[in-house]
Amino acid sequence: RTRIRSILDAGDAMAGRRVVVGGWVRAGREQGHGAPDPFAFLDVNDGSCQGNLQLFVKGEVVGYPLARLTATGTSVLVEAVVRRDERAKHGVELAVTRVLEVGEVDAAAYPLPKTKTGCSLDPAYIRDFVHLRPRTYLISAVTRIRSELSFATDKYFRENDFLRVHTPIVTTSDCEGAGQMFQVTTLFSQAKKLEAELKENPAPSQADIDAAKLSVKAKGDIVAQLKSAQATKEEISAAVSDLKKAKEDVLTMEERSKLKPGIPYREDGSVAFEKDFFKCPSYLTVSGQLHLETLACSLGNVYTFGPTFRAENSHTSRHLAEFWMVEAEFAFANLQDDMDCAESYVKYLCQWLLDHCQEEMEFMVKSQDKEAIKRLKMVSSTPFERISYTKAVDILKDADGKFENKVEWGIDLASEHERYLTEVVFKKPVIVFNYPKGIKAFYMRLNDDQKRVAAMDVLVPKVGELIGGSQREERLDVLEQRMLDAGLPLEQYDKYLDIRRYGTVRHSGFGLGLERMILFATGLENIRDVIAFPRYPGRADV
Ligand code: 4AD
Ligand code: MG
Repeated sequence: RTRIRSILDAGDAMAGRRVVVGGWVRAGREQGHGAPDPFAFLDVNDGSCQGNLQLFVKGEVVGYPLARLTATGTSVLVEAVVRRDERAKHGVELAVTRVLEVGEVDAAAYPLPKTKTGCSLDPAYIRDFVHLRPRTYLISAVTRIRSELSFATDKYFRENDFLRVHTPIVTTSDCEGAGQMFQVTTLFSQAKKLEAELKENPAPSQADIDAAKLSVKAKGDIVAQLKSAQATKEEISAAVSDLKKAKEDVLTMEERSKLKPGIPYREDGSVAFEKDFFKCPSYLTVSGQLHLETLACSLGNVYTFGPTFRAENSHTSRHLAEFWMVEAEFAFANLQDDMDCAESYVKYLCQWLLDHCQEEMEFMVKSQDKEAIKRLKMVSSTPFERISYTKAVDILKDADGKFENKVEWGIDLASEHERYLTEVVFKKPVIVFNYPKGIKAFYMRLNDDQKRVAAMDVLVPKVGELIGGSQREERLDVLEQRMLDAGLPLEQYDKYLDIRRYGTVRHSGFGLGLERMILFATGLENIRDVIAFPRYPGRADV
């Protein structure tokens, strides 16, 4: 099978070649319907590129009504010959010689409309169809950009001598100390809880339910009698609410009667599940950093790239409950090195998109944000501004009236502040460093002034915070004190502290949210549109 991208890229050079191509019809039109020799044009896309390949199909080739092929969303696998056609957008089209497979679409029910080449549907509308939206111009472009950024990440870190490591997803520690963790539990422990609950309050039997149904009937009779005896309004309404409650009771009993104690999906009762699985409360990771630090303090430059979870009850367009974070960590490095690496990595990503996602980025410029390519060019070639937190606060204070959130030394910068610095003041990415210790995590290295920590955030236009990082506290006594101040149980972090006991080393690292990077690159407004299956409060089903 040939991917459509390689045919469009090759153009003329592939003319005359026989190929097999599979994809989904974005727009189809039949011509000469009813005439002896009808034919159809199908604009087909297979996800490999932004453009569509035009398929020319003759009625006699398929042997059934061409209308079965032309509906938007229809899947086709065809055998065809590439031929030059000046009228086709890419200079070539496929003359279909055999239709091998077809997946038809009920055009009236299909939720995605036919769109002209390059036309973008409303991102908020297609969010209701996350399972079908990868077929749209917009989401397929986002998906390829995402893929390229993932690949470029591996390439960048490999070229810079980093090892790719894998940190665990299930963990016992709250890296950021913000209490935003999802707890992990097994179905077995849920079943145990249910068993205990049912022991206290047993599920009703069929006989109980039948009796309750009889009572509903009796109460219905009472209502009827009162009505026909023309009883007072109050008497009738009391009887009606009595009847309603009896009906609800039956429903609850029927629901409860379905509850069965026991182990869901598992009947062998194997011992591994007989206790709380991990024997201690465990959670989905909010950051791989603590594990990454231990690896960096044995292996030097390391990075990890994986799913990260935060139970932030936040409905902003910049937060997800499940997002992908790239985290790098390096030994024998200070805050300066951290900023240098973060800056060069972001520049690399921007340049990579300019070099490898031209069509996708042109689409973004046309449909989402006129400045998108300009911004990538600017970021890839302009040194980032670097200012201390104190200086940032001074600048923001001068514009205090402009913000919803009041600015004073000690506040956590809000998204509006971050965007003001990058979009209005400096008009480029800004790295803010040396934050007050009170608003940052316990692991960041305490500065000599005892008030600030060696933290840095990379802020970018459109998005605000793209990267958070710091030099880590490598001094055992200082770190222990910071943890005690933060109310963390030292014994739970004993292994982490060991790294400071045995051959401690100055080290630094940062984390970049992949979805924020895609928002920045594409100019899209909502983070729910840059991941295939977004998870946020109230949404984890599709
Ligand atoms: O600033 P954060 O919380 O830093 C850390 O987690 C560090 N432990 C990283 C490290 O030094 N190894 O998160 C890092 C980045 C943020 O700058 C942001 O881009 C992204 O992760 N991020 C989110 N992205 C989407 N949804 C959320 N809820 C996010 N929370 C953080
Ligand atoms: Mg942060």
